[in-house]
Amino acid sequence: MKLVVTGGLGFIGSNFIKNILIRTDIEKVVNIDNLTTGSNRDNIKTIAQSRYQFVKADILDTETISSHFETADVVVNFAAETHVDRSIKDPEPFIQSNILGTYNLLKIERKLGKRIRHIQISTDETYGGIAGDAFTEDDQLKPSNPYSATKAAGDLLCNAYHSTYGMDIIVTRCTNNFGPNQFPEKFIPKTIIRALNNKGIPIYGTGKNIRDWIYVLDHCKAIEFLMAEGKSGEIYNISSGNEKTNIEVVEKILEILKKPSSLIRFVDDRPGHDARYSLNSVKLRSLGWRTEHSYDESLRKTVKWYIENESWWRPTATSDVLGETPWRTGDRH
Ligand SMILES: NC(=O)c1ccc[n+]([C@@H]2O[C@H](COP(=O)([O-])OP(=O)(O)OC[C@H]3O[C@@H](n4cnc5c(N)ncnc54)[C@H](O)[C@@H]3O)[C@@H](O)[C@H]2O)c1
Repeated sequence: MKLVVTGGLGFIGSNFIKNILIRTDIEKVVNIDNLTTGSNRDNIKTIAQSRYQFVKADILDTETISSHFETADVVVNFAAETHVDRSIKDPEPFIQSNILGTYNLLKIERKLGKRIRHIQISTDETYGGIAGDAFTEDDQLKPSNPYSATKAAGDLLCNAYHSTYGMDIIVTRCTNNFGPNQFPEKFIPKTIIRALNNKGIPIYGTGKNIRDWIYVLDHCKAIEFLMAEGKSGEIYNISSGNEKTNIEVVEKILEILKKPSSLIRFVDDRPGHDARYSLNSVKLRSLGWRTEHSYDESLRKTVKWYIENESWWRPTATSDVLGETPWRTGDRH
């Protein structure tokens, strides 16, 4: 089987590639990434080159993408602008990569006219927040920020290309991931790095926002499972049921690192900050998928990884991540 993975130098894509290449029936993985925010060449260093090829290209680059799709059996599209705060400051790159980029991949697959299984990696954020209960795949999309709106648009294009052109497309929507190789500016890595440096740890609003956390390898295994078992044209939620408030996550990391909770700083809330995300993943579980990693143990492993891999995160850790910039006006200490 030949795979093209887009965005494979990012957090989840790189974990996916390293994990799937353990399988000997995978003839080749081509990783197409334009090395933008979130990427790191060092995420994939130890792979035997015979079955792995890296191509530096944008998913908007029709010629390069077409040449690699010609021989692909499966395309897994991780490539996206992913940082919500960045999308609030400037939505433009999100429109380009998450909407137009997805459109370009679908357009190329359609033009090639051969059967390619396209797995579109999406997010729980497309549904927006939910007070009680959990979203199923049939619920309405109500994204609250430019990131989630562009991801929702990409999902809808995928659904439309399946319905209109009969293409083999699956959309997956997963909850918040954590694990090794996540870009330092994201919530869990930034909390670990600041705590290691004894710097204040910012938490939006009251810290009561709830996210459901899944270990990255459980997400990767779900995608691999759906490559074989997923039904074309379907959407699958992926979740593990580890719902935590942001403050609970930070307190757990401080406990693991034996650091005081006095490091916590409440800062002004993010605009459009959904109170709670929650997904019902019964549809996927009914096919036989299960999570294999516990939250507590995986969080410990993740903290250990950041302690042992400072040479990985240090070059991309901005002064904001390191806690070396002054607190913004309006921040509450
Ligand atoms: N991180 C999470 O918690 C989470 C949860 C659910 C879904 N997702 C989705 O999973 C996917 C991967 O997320 P991640 O956390 O690994 O993100 P990431 O930011 O770590 O990686 C994204 C990768 O995509 C690449 N990329 C971006 N735009 C590109 C373009 N136009 N052309 C080629 N490459 C491009 C980047 O260079 C980077 O390597 C995204 O689609 C995201 O929406 C993430």
